[in-house]
Parts: sequence; structure tokens; C-alpha cells
Amino acid sequence: MEKILVTRQIPAKFKQRLEALGEVEMWDHHLTPMPRETFLQAAADKTVLLVTLSEQIDNALFQQAPHLKIIANMAVGYDNIDLVSAEQHGVVISNTPHVLTETTAELGFALMMAASRRLPEAIDYVQDGQWESWGPYLLAGKDIYHAKVGIFGMGEIGKAFARRLKGFNADILYHNRSRNTKAEHELGAFYTSFETLIRESDFVVCTAPSTPETQNKFDRSVFQMMRDDAIFVNIGRGDLVVEEDLVEALIAGEIAGCALDVVRDEPIRMDHPLLKQPNAIITPHIGSATVLTRDQMIQTCVLNIEDVVQGRPARNQV
Ligand code: DGY
Repeated sequence: MEKILVTRQIPAKFKQRLEALGEVEMWDHHLTPMPRETFLQAAADKTVLLVTLSEQIDNALFQQAPHLKIIANMAVGYDNIDLVSAEQHGVVISNTPHVLTETTAELGFALMMAASRRLPEAIDYVQDGQWESWGPYLLAGKDIYHAKVGIFGMGEIGKAFARRLKGFNADILYHNRSRNTKAEHELGAFYTSFETLIRESDFVVCTAPSTPETQNKFDRSVFQMMRDDAIFVNIGRGDLVVEEDLVEALIAGEIAGCALDVVRDEPIRMDHPLLKQPNAIITPHIGSATVLTRDQMIQTCVLNIEDVVQGRPARNQV
């Protein structure tokens, strides 16, 4: 019999699948994460954890919970997990690739469109009663059609984003650790240096994960290299961006705007200067948030847990 901890409320159908494997303790909250101490205590006697990005899975956790077999992370990213410690303690880590690819690309596209046509400003303009007449350049934005769009990170999500750009006849540039010749052949994406991508793109779209190579990649020098009419979109991870530098770049008019689904410290503090910039759009890390995709992410966690406790390799081991 397994002892399973689920750190957030999940639908009954998935909880029942886990109950077939053993005793399940679930933190019965949708939005409130488990406090760290509560989490460490609850994990101590468990063999299986189903966790979210809110939990830091570090050496302290592995020392506290010596019976763990698998930790299923409800995300494709796993920057909340110390993989070296996991390996040292012989614990399998799984993630949720593939199922969220299209959904996350779609949110990225929605953000790019919202920023390009200044939708939040336009909505506020009407709601604030400022709409008095039509003006030739009132809330004038920027076309995506025929634009140059630079994608930083040409993994599955980058490719799904590029596929959508085909319908806009956009020029697709990309920069990635390694070349993605499939994306080049199938989508006509051009591989460029990071600097060329930054200098030339109308839209710079970041889909890359957080790694030692990508952290703090977007700093003042990078924003200064961008076109002053460029829009920066981030659906990767918040720590790729030096946020004070982004704020400075927005204030100085070094770029035209940004749209971010991720920030360095989530949830963002209400006094964060990014929230005061009219040309910054921030959404609360909802890239994969459709009901179908969230169901599929939880199901993927359950499948990986079943794999391991039934003696098979986890299908999405990282
Ligand atoms: C992921 O899966 O890594 C997302 O950021 C969470 O939806």
C-alpha cells in the first residue's frame, strides 16, 4: 500500500485512481499552497508525492521523506526540483510534457495579440468613459501580419507558437541551444544568433525554460538592443528576465511593451513597478490553464505514479 500526498485539490476521478494504489492525503485547497512546514511534515511518511510548481523539492525534503519512490510534478517545467538530490535519493521525478503544448502556445499568442493591439488599454479606455471620438491614431498598435517574430526557445511550445504564426505570414526567426531543423523545414523558421534575433524582431517571444544558461538572459543590455517598437512576450519562466531592467526599458521607451504570463516571484506583489506600466500586460501563470489541459496534466501525473508503483519505468521521467 502506497502513502500518497497530493499538494492541491484535484478532481475526485483522479483522486479515486490514486486511492486504488493506497492511502491518499490531499491538501484540499484550490488556490492556497501548503505552507512549507506543513508540506515537509505531511511528506515525511509518504512514498508518492503529486506536487505543483508551488512546492520547492530540495534536499531538505528528500532528507525528511526517506520512503519516496516518485514525485510527479504537475508541470512540464521542473525548475522547482533539485534533480541532483532526487537522483542521490533514488527518487523518480516525472513531468507533464506534450499535453500542454498547444494550450500554452495559444495563451502566448493571445498575449502577443493583446499587446500588439493594446487591448487592456483599449478596454480600460472605454470602461473609464474616455471614448469621446474616433481618432486616426487612437490606441494605434502594431501588426503581427508580415512582422518578424523571434522565438527564443524552439522546443515543443516554440514550434506550436511558430505554427500559429504561419497564418499571419510572419517571418519566423528563432534561437535555441541547438538547431531545430524540423522547425526550419516544416515552418520556414530561420535560425539566428541571439543578438540578431533580439535586434531584428518586432516581437520577441520567450518560451525557454529556466536553466543556468537562460536565467537573467533578458537584462538591460538586451532590452537596449531591441527595436524601440518591439514587444516582448514571456511564457517561459520569470527568472529569465531582470525585471528592474525591463521596467527601465519600458519607462525609457527602449521597447514598446511587454506581455508576461510568468514573473520572477509569483504571485506578483501589488506594489511591483511592472504593474504601474500601461504597456505591460501580466497574467497569473495561466499558460496551460484550460480545463481539458489541466485534466490531462493531472492524468499524466497519475499515469506516471501508476507506472512507478506498479514496477514500470515512469513514462515521463525527467
Ligand atoms: C509548466 O507546465 O511548466 C507551466 O509553467 C505550468 O503550467
